[in-house]
Amino acid sequence: MRSSLIAGNWKMNGNLQSVVELVEGIKAGNAGKAELAIFPPAVFLMKVGGMLAESEIALGAQNVCDQEAGAFTGEIAASMLRECGCRYALAGHSERRSLYQETDQLVAARCAMAVASGIIPILCVGETLQEREQGITEDVVARQIDAVINLSGIASLGQAIIAYEPVWAIGTGKVATPDQAQEVHAFIRGKLARLNADVAEKVQILYGGSMNPSNAAELLSQADIDGGLIGGASLKADDFLTIAQAV
Ligand code: PGA
Repeated sequence: MRSSLIAGNWKMNGNLQSVVELVEGIKAGNAGKAELAIFPPAVFLMKVGGMLAESEIALGAQNVCDQEAGAFTGEIAASMLRECGCRYALAGHSERRSLYQETDQLVAARCAMAVASGIIPILCVGETLQEREQGITEDVVARQIDAVINLSGIASLGQAIIAYEPVWAIGTGKVATPDQAQEVHAFIRGKLARLNADVAEKVQILYGGSMNPSNAAELLSQADIDGGLIGGASLKADDFLTIAQAV
């Protein structure tokens, strides 16, 4: 039986004071039913890592460099993330892919470096509205996952999490229906099962895209949805905790 993870991606929001308040609010209300993880902006990782040291809530980074160390201005090494207390790092969030032109290959290399450094990558995949309308959702998701399998092998996904985030649902208030989401999650698990049944059974597949307190329960009750990657609704402690209670 897979456990559930509710992950809050804070993106580039907040300031030192609001971040501290949000962490305190989440810590105070955490009922401990689902595993929680929060992904603050990188400059606040050290601070938040310190605040979470004695708690059950995990820390994650919004990205991770594909290189170990050296002249990579603006990037953050997986080893540094570990020093901040990170358990997770996102890789290939659609905003990184579309706004910063991160390719499938670069995203796969970021995942590989995370795994090699003991950080669990959350590989984000998902189609745009245009791709869904063209009927190529599965092709797109398969291509994004295949980049990781081709670089690091199917076994590497046994040390990773996948987040299915339809691009058209991110930050738009337009959530995928539970059936639409389940269909893609089942496709992903089926695809992995053809290569390695154990990995397919074990890997957590999160849904992301306008998940909120009112739609979370139905999404999270689907057989292949093992949690959520929450953007907007993770910026309010109450909303984030209500989603976690829906598990
Ligand atoms: P959203 O973002 O919940 O605001 O749609 C999800 C994400 O980008 O991970």
